[in-house]
Amino acid sequence: VALHLARNGLDVVGIDASPHMLARLRDRLDGDDAKRVRTVEGDVRDFDLGGERFDLVYCALSSFELLTKTADQLATLGCVSRHLAPGGVFVAQLRSPVHVDWSAGPSPLVLEWTRIDPATDETVTKLSSSAPLRAEQCLRYTEFFDRTDATGAVRRRVFEVALRPVGRFEIELLLAGAGLRLAHVYGDADLSPYTDDSDTMVIVAELS
Ligand SMILES: C[S@@+](CC[C@H](N)C(=O)[O-])C[C@H]1O[C@@H](n2cnc3c(N)ncnc32)[C@H](O)[C@@H]1O
Repeated sequence: VALHLARNGLDVVGIDASPHMLARLRDRLDGDDAKRVRTVEGDVRDFDLGGERFDLVYCALSSFELLTKTADQLATLGCVSRHLAPGGVFVAQLRSPVHVDWSAGPSPLVLEWTRIDPATDETVTKLSSSAPLRAEQCLRYTEFFDRTDATGAVRRRVFEVALRPVGRFEIELLLAGAGLRLAHVYGDADLSPYTDDSDTMVIVAELS
Protein backbone atom coordinates (compact mmCIF):
# COMPACT_ATOMS: atom_id res chain seq x y z
CA VAL A 1 0.00 0.00 0.00
CA ALA A 2 2.80 2.41 0.93
CA LEU A 3 4.58 1.71 -2.36
CA HIS A 4 1.43 2.25 -4.38
CA LEU A 5 0.71 5.56 -2.66
CA ALA A 6 4.30 6.76 -3.10
CA ARG A 7 4.29 5.79 -6.80
CA ASN A 8 1.19 7.94 -7.18
CA GLY A 9 3.09 10.94 -5.85
CA LEU A 10 1.97 10.94 -2.20
CA ASP A 11 4.24 11.33 0.82
CA VAL A 12 3.79 8.36 3.15
CA VAL A 13 4.75 7.52 6.73
CA GLY A 14 4.49 3.77 7.39
CA ILE A 15 4.21 2.57 11.00
CA ASP A 16 4.86 -1.01 12.04
CA ALA A 17 6.05 -2.57 15.28
CA SER A 18 8.21 -5.01 13.32
CA PRO A 19 11.63 -3.71 12.16
CA HIS A 20 11.74 -6.68 9.74
CA MET A 21 8.55 -5.61 7.97
CA LEU A 22 9.84 -2.03 7.73
CA ALA A 23 13.15 -3.28 6.31
CA ARG A 24 11.25 -5.26 3.68
CA LEU A 25 9.43 -2.11 2.63
CA ARG A 26 12.66 -0.07 2.49
CA ASP A 27 14.30 -2.79 0.36
CA ARG A 28 11.62 -2.22 -2.27
CA LEU A 29 12.00 1.56 -2.40
CA ASP A 30 14.19 3.28 -4.92
CA GLY A 31 14.60 6.73 -6.45
CA ASP A 32 11.69 9.09 -5.86
CA ASP A 33 9.72 6.45 -3.91
CA ALA A 34 12.46 6.36 -1.31
CA LYS A 35 12.15 10.14 -0.84
CA ARG A 36 8.38 9.89 -0.36
CA VAL A 37 8.27 7.04 2.18
CA ARG A 38 9.40 7.32 5.79
CA THR A 39 9.19 4.28 8.05
CA VAL A 40 8.57 4.52 11.79
CA GLU A 41 9.04 1.61 14.16
CA GLY A 42 6.25 2.04 16.66
CA ASP A 43 3.09 0.77 18.22
CA VAL A 44 -0.20 1.87 16.67
CA ARG A 45 -1.70 2.07 20.16
CA ASP A 46 0.79 4.70 21.23
CA PHE A 47 2.44 6.77 18.53
CA ASP A 48 3.26 10.46 18.40
CA LEU A 49 4.76 11.94 15.25
CA GLY A 50 5.36 15.34 16.80
CA GLY A 51 3.09 17.97 15.32
CA GLU A 52 2.59 16.12 12.02
CA ARG A 53 -1.00 15.89 10.76
CA PHE A 54 -2.19 13.80 7.82
CA ASP A 55 -4.94 14.07 5.21
CA LEU A 56 -5.30 10.27 5.24
CA VAL A 57 -4.58 7.63 7.86
CA TYR A 58 -5.02 4.16 6.39
CA CYS A 59 -5.22 0.83 8.20
CA ALA A 60 -4.79 -1.87 5.56
CA LEU A 61 -5.37 -5.59 5.29
CA SER A 62 -7.72 -5.96 8.27
CA SER A 63 -4.77 -5.18 10.56
CA PHE A 64 -7.24 -3.57 12.98
CA GLU A 65 -8.27 -7.15 13.91
CA LEU A 66 -4.89 -7.58 15.62
CA LEU A 67 -6.23 -5.28 18.34
CA THR A 68 -8.15 -7.78 20.44
CA LYS A 69 -8.95 -5.57 23.44
CA THR A 70 -11.39 -2.65 23.42
CA ALA A 71 -8.81 -0.50 25.25
CA ASP A 72 -6.27 -1.17 22.47
CA GLN A 73 -8.79 -0.38 19.74
CA LEU A 74 -9.69 2.92 21.44
CA ALA A 75 -6.05 3.84 22.11
CA THR A 76 -5.24 3.27 18.41
CA LEU A 77 -8.20 5.32 17.20
CA GLY A 78 -7.25 8.07 19.67
CA CYS A 79 -3.74 8.23 18.12
CA VAL A 80 -5.32 8.28 14.65
CA SER A 81 -7.62 11.13 15.58
CA ARG A 82 -4.72 13.19 17.02
CA HIS A 83 -2.82 12.80 13.72
CA LEU A 84 -5.62 13.80 11.34
CA ALA A 85 -5.43 17.20 9.66
CA PRO A 86 -8.65 19.23 9.56
CA GLY A 87 -10.78 17.63 6.82
CA GLY A 88 -8.60 14.50 6.87
CA VAL A 89 -10.01 10.96 6.78
CA PHE A 90 -9.29 7.68 8.49
CA VAL A 91 -9.87 4.69 6.21
CA ALA A 92 -9.75 1.09 7.36
CA GLN A 93 -10.21 -2.04 5.38
CA LEU A 94 -11.89 -4.58 7.64
CA ARG A 95 -13.19 -8.08 7.14
CA SER A 96 -16.97 -8.28 7.11
CA PRO A 97 -17.85 -10.05 10.39
CA VAL A 98 -20.81 -11.67 8.63
CA HIS A 99 -18.38 -13.82 6.67
CA VAL A 100 -16.49 -15.12 9.67
CA ASP A 101 -17.19 -18.79 10.39
CA TRP A 102 -18.14 -18.81 14.09
CA SER A 103 -19.24 -22.45 14.12
CA ALA A 104 -17.54 -24.75 16.60
CA GLY A 105 -15.96 -28.05 15.60
CA PRO A 106 -12.78 -29.12 13.85
CA SER A 107 -11.07 -26.29 11.97
CA PRO A 108 -9.93 -27.23 8.47
CA LEU A 109 -6.27 -26.76 7.56
CA VAL A 110 -6.24 -24.61 4.43
CA LEU A 111 -3.41 -24.60 1.90
CA GLU A 112 -3.02 -20.88 1.16
CA TRP A 113 -0.11 -20.92 -1.31
CA THR A 114 3.07 -22.62 -2.45
CA ARG A 115 6.11 -20.69 -3.73
CA ILE A 116 9.75 -21.29 -4.48
CA ASP A 117 12.15 -19.24 -2.34
CA PRO A 118 14.61 -17.89 -4.96
CA ALA A 119 17.29 -17.48 -2.26
CA THR A 120 17.36 -21.20 -1.34
CA ASP A 121 15.36 -22.98 -4.09
CA GLU A 122 13.26 -24.50 -1.32
CA THR A 123 9.52 -24.93 -1.78
CA VAL A 124 7.61 -22.90 0.80
CA THR A 125 4.01 -23.75 1.56
CA LYS A 126 1.70 -21.75 3.78
CA LEU A 127 -1.15 -23.54 5.53
CA SER A 128 -3.50 -21.97 8.01
CA SER A 129 -6.30 -22.80 10.36
CA SER A 130 -8.75 -20.55 12.15
CA ALA A 131 -10.64 -21.58 15.30
CA PRO A 132 -13.37 -19.40 16.84
CA LEU A 133 -13.12 -18.23 20.46
CA ARG A 134 -16.76 -17.22 20.46
CA ALA A 135 -17.11 -15.78 23.96
CA GLU A 136 -14.04 -13.62 23.28
CA GLN A 137 -15.37 -12.54 19.83
CA CYS A 138 -11.97 -13.63 18.55
CA LEU A 139 -10.45 -16.13 16.16
CA ARG A 140 -7.30 -18.08 16.93
CA TYR A 141 -5.44 -18.03 13.63
CA THR A 142 -2.55 -20.47 13.23
CA GLU A 143 -0.11 -20.25 10.33
CA PHE A 144 2.19 -23.10 9.32
CA PHE A 145 5.11 -22.39 7.00
CA ASP A 146 6.67 -25.57 5.57
CA ARG A 147 10.06 -25.40 3.80
CA THR A 148 10.85 -28.47 1.72
CA ASP A 149 14.45 -28.88 0.54
CA ALA A 150 15.77 -30.85 -2.46
CA THR A 151 15.86 -34.07 -0.42
CA GLY A 152 12.17 -33.73 0.49
CA ALA A 153 12.96 -32.92 4.14
CA VAL A 154 10.47 -30.46 5.67
CA ARG A 155 11.11 -27.75 8.27
CA ARG A 156 7.97 -26.26 9.80
CA ARG A 157 7.52 -22.93 11.64
CA VAL A 158 4.25 -22.21 13.40
CA PHE A 159 2.82 -18.81 14.34
CA GLU A 160 -0.33 -18.15 16.30
CA VAL A 161 -2.24 -14.91 16.51
CA ALA A 162 -5.62 -13.85 17.90
CA LEU A 163 -7.87 -11.71 15.69
CA ARG A 164 -10.98 -9.79 16.65
CA PRO A 165 -13.38 -9.02 13.79
CA VAL A 166 -15.54 -5.94 14.39
CA GLY A 167 -19.03 -5.18 13.15
CA ARG A 168 -20.27 -2.08 11.35
CA PHE A 169 -22.07 -0.67 14.41
CA GLU A 170 -19.29 -1.65 16.83
CA ILE A 171 -16.71 0.27 14.80
CA GLU A 172 -19.06 3.25 14.73
CA LEU A 173 -19.18 3.27 18.55
CA LEU A 174 -15.41 2.81 18.82
CA LEU A 175 -14.83 5.71 16.42
CA ALA A 176 -17.19 7.91 18.44
CA GLY A 177 -15.24 7.04 21.60
CA ALA A 178 -12.12 8.45 19.95
CA GLY A 179 -13.65 11.66 18.57
CA LEU A 180 -14.29 10.29 15.08
CA ARG A 181 -17.49 10.06 13.04
CA LEU A 182 -18.27 7.24 10.64
CA ALA A 183 -18.89 8.97 7.30
CA HIS A 184 -19.13 6.06 4.81
CA VAL A 185 -19.17 2.27 4.75
CA TYR A 186 -18.27 0.52 1.49
CA GLY A 187 -18.21 -3.15 0.52
CA ASP A 188 -14.81 -2.95 -1.15
CA ALA A 189 -11.98 -0.63 -2.17
CA ASP A 190 -13.92 0.08 -5.41
CA LEU A 191 -16.45 1.93 -3.18
CA SER A 192 -19.26 -0.51 -4.01
CA PRO A 193 -22.06 -0.65 -1.39
CA TYR A 194 -21.63 -2.75 1.76
CA THR A 195 -24.19 -5.55 1.49
CA ASP A 196 -25.00 -9.00 2.93
CA ASP A 197 -22.59 -10.50 0.39
CA SER A 198 -19.60 -8.23 1.07
CA ASP A 199 -16.48 -10.01 2.29
CA THR A 200 -14.86 -6.70 3.18
CA MET A 201 -16.02 -3.56 4.90
CA VAL A 202 -14.18 -0.33 4.06
CA ILE A 203 -14.95 2.40 6.55
CA VAL A 204 -14.24 6.10 6.13
CA ALA A 205 -14.26 8.32 9.23
CA GLU A 206 -13.74 12.02 9.89
CA LEU A 207 -13.01 14.11 12.95
CA SER A 208 -16.32 14.75 14.68
C1 LIG B 1 -1.63 -7.88 8.26
S1 LIG B 1 0.01 -7.26 8.56
C2 LIG B 1 -0.01 -5.83 7.56
C3 LIG B 1 1.14 -5.98 6.75
C4 LIG B 1 2.05 -4.86 6.43
N1 LIG B 1 1.78 -3.58 7.04
C5 LIG B 1 2.11 -4.79 4.92
O1 LIG B 1 1.69 -3.81 4.35
O2 LIG B 1 2.54 -5.78 4.32
C6 LIG B 1 -0.07 -6.61 10.16
C7 LIG B 1 1.17 -5.85 10.58
O3 LIG B 1 0.83 -5.22 11.81
C8 LIG B 1 2.00 -5.16 12.62
N2 LIG B 1 1.53 -4.94 13.99
C9 LIG B 1 0.85 -5.79 14.78
N3 LIG B 1 0.52 -5.20 15.95
C10 LIG B 1 1.01 -3.93 15.87
C11 LIG B 1 1.00 -2.82 16.77
N4 LIG B 1 0.38 -2.88 17.96
N5 LIG B 1 1.60 -1.68 16.37
C12 LIG B 1 2.21 -1.59 15.17
N6 LIG B 1 2.26 -2.62 14.27
C13 LIG B 1 1.66 -3.76 14.63
C14 LIG B 1 2.70 -6.47 12.35
O4 LIG B 1 4.08 -6.35 12.62
C15 LIG B 1 2.39 -6.70 10.86
O5 LIG B 1 3.43 -6.26 10.05
